[in-house]
Amino acid sequence: MTKPLTIALSKGRILKETLPLLKAAGIELLEDPEASRKLIFDTTRDDVKIIIIRATDVPPYVQHGAADIGVAGKDVLMEHGGDGVFEPLDLNIARCKLMVAAVKDAPDAGGRLRVATKFVNVAKAYYAQQGKQAEVIKLYGAMELAPLVGLADRIVDIVDTGNTLRANGLEPTELIAHISTRVIVNRASMKTRHGDIQGILDQLAEAVEARK
Ligand code: ATP
Ligand code: PRP
Ligand code: MG
Repeated sequence: MTKPLTIALSKGRILKETLPLLKAAGIELLEDPEASRKLIFDTTRDDVKIIIIRATDVPPYVQHGAADIGVAGKDVLMEHGGDGVFEPLDLNIARCKLMVAAVKDAPDAGGRLRVATKFVNVAKAYYAQQGKQAEVIKLYGAMELAPLVGLADRIVDIVDTGNTLRANGLEPTELIAHISTRVIVNRASMKTRHGDIQGILDQLAEAVEARK
């Protein structure tokens, strides 16, 4: 038998919404990932296995061919840069925005901005394109705290309801990008296993349409 197709899923908030779409494509995990410490899961298709990893790890797994297909937020893909992967499908889930935010009614910080974010590449590209000087400080979470304790003048982070910003006295100032969850495919796999992969993409696309 040929090597199974490997699909990399992001654990966390995307997972719950991804599983029903995969199910519609005939792919179901044989055990509940939330009740398991396993990282590799067999599925109802003998030729498909699923790995469940951190969202930011999905692009490198797919880029280097350790997974053929991946599911990840556009924010994570923008930060990764997209080398070695195709992005053929928008699953239209976990919609949110990537925004700049600051302390509410803060005066315009003159000169070089300090920007705290986990999206350092996106932030650097954004400020370069704006022609603004920015020192970008890498954080791994709770970016909203940074402006409150004087670590940064701005943050670049995900905004959905705006509740987290409001609860911390911050406000969104600029939109960087609209975000949703995407399917990515390893470039080599797309050629060598085109039939299998296109079949899955078509079924996923149908499931996405059916939800609209
Ligand atoms: P980790 O917890 O491993 O650091 P993460 O915070 O990026 O990673 P999740 O919170 O599970 O992981 O988010 C996964 C994806 O869901 C993000 O990449 C983004 O595309 C989207 N997302 C994040 N926060 C929200 C939100 N509040 N509302 C809607 N979508 C969101
Ligand atoms: C995400 C994001 C924001 C928040 C935005 O955090 O990083 O903090 O959601 O959503 P809102 O606008 O609806 O408040 P998450 O809950 O994923 O926590 P994290 O720091 O662990 O990523
Ligand atoms: Mg999160």
